[in-house]
Amino acid sequence: MQHGAECTPAFDMVIFGGAGDLAMRKLLPSLYQAHAAGLLHDDGRILALGLNEFTQDEYLAYVEQHSRPNVKESYTDAQWQSFKARLDYLHVDATQVDDYRALAEKLGPPAGRSVVFYLAMVPHLFARICENLAAVGLNHDQARVVLEKPLGTDLKSSNAINDAVARFFKEHQLYRIDHYLGKESVQNLMAIRFGNALFEPLWCREWIHDVQITISEELGVEGRGDFYNVTGAFRDMMQNHLLQLLCIVAMEPPASMDADAVRDEKLKVLKALRRFTPEDVEEKTVRGQYTAGAIGDRAVQGFLSEPGIPADSTTETYVALKAEIDNWRWVDVPFFLRTGKRMKDRLAEIVINFRDVPNTLFPSPLGRHTANRLVIRLQPDESVRLHFLAKEAGDTMRMQPAYLNLDFHEMFKVRRADAYERLLLDVIRGRLALFMRRDEAIEAWRWVEPIMETWKTSTTPPAQYAAGSWGPAEAEALLSRDKIVWHVES
Ligand code: BG6
Repeated sequence: MQHGAECTPAFDMVIFGGAGDLAMRKLLPSLYQAHAAGLLHDDGRILALGLNEFTQDEYLAYVEQHSRPNVKESYTDAQWQSFKARLDYLHVDATQVDDYRALAEKLGPPAGRSVVFYLAMVPHLFARICENLAAVGLNHDQARVVLEKPLGTDLKSSNAINDAVARFFKEHQLYRIDHYLGKESVQNLMAIRFGNALFEPLWCREWIHDVQITISEELGVEGRGDFYNVTGAFRDMMQNHLLQLLCIVAMEPPASMDADAVRDEKLKVLKALRRFTPEDVEEKTVRGQYTAGAIGDRAVQGFLSEPGIPADSTTETYVALKAEIDNWRWVDVPFFLRTGKRMKDRLAEIVINFRDVPNTLFPSPLGRHTANRLVIRLQPDESVRLHFLAKEAGDTMRMQPAYLNLDFHEMFKVRRADAYERLLLDVIRGRLALFMRRDEAIEAWRWVEPIMETWKTSTTPPAQYAAGSWGPAEAEALLSRDKIVWHVES
């Protein structure tokens, strides 16, 4: 078993969309990894539900073909075979209440087990599924429901889904997943901030000049054209992942690590985010769309030529914006957020740029605002790097950039769970801290909505950027008004 980790209680993991893309790419491989690490209770069953008329053997063959290649670590034949023994398949049409009777019969009484319903389905079915579960008595106290994003397309539709689900399940039974919260470095960010005396006194407007949060991807829309064209980068990434990261950087120390204590603090940040007026949207946001280009040495097509994307689509594949938080800690500290598809590198990082020293005693080779910075890298590697200036060796007092680097893989040579594995284990164990509470989701929609509304009526098309670049030139201009540049480090 993994060092320091405890095994789950007995459980049933019921996956709606059990033969779907998410189940094959993420859920089953993550559950396998937890199994191989000895973290799943021996009495833990995984029941996949779907519309296909698979026999048990056909389903296992399907899993073999579509999911096993996605197992990235700890693979052994023996472990894989014993993992497959946990799997079962049931033909269920999620819209038909009669099918749920067979499900209830298969599950039997919960008898102290943790029963998880993972809704890896389109969100407009969530309400119906919850209603049907309740109709056959499966909304008992031990039931937990995982809601995959996107939870609606705006505040109204998100509220409608949440209201409908809340008729059958209590808030503490609902796990709104944002897989970025399950990433090791996101948790480390909290540990670094709140477990050390070093950073917290500097973590405020007196010492921080600006914060930059980047999530860039090399991937394009990857066969999800229909979905992506109506969703766009803003809803797909900004409304959830980037805002969640911003909350963790900006939140006040919670009274404890209890789920609600943490979520209360994140909520306060979302409430303090300054709302955008239509003029702000023009001035402080940049939408982009990729054109043909190259990722490494591979030529790739532009967004408008991707399957499922209309030739006149104005959907953004890139967003950059300047967010401001109106509270005592952060007023006047810009938070620059950006995300995009088909960018130069796959990267997720948080950069804290500290203010300059008040008086420059030594000649420095660097410009302003560059001497002290903390770079927290979430992927591809997990590291924390603290940049500062030091004297160059020799007679002169010339300064050179230097840094302290903490690479978590080097430092802690223990197996680390990937985001989905950690979050699935948390659901089985009933830990809510890394899941979004309803009021957080609502507040996030309230903040993004005026931006979406302004874009809807805007006559300015998204700025173009070549696939394989760092995004449109307009995003550089967004920062240059504050006399800074985006941090890029290889
Ligand atoms: C998902 C988005 O939430 O996150 C995808 O829907 C995106 O479009 C993915 O590719 C990125 O996640 P990660 O963990 O690979 O950075």
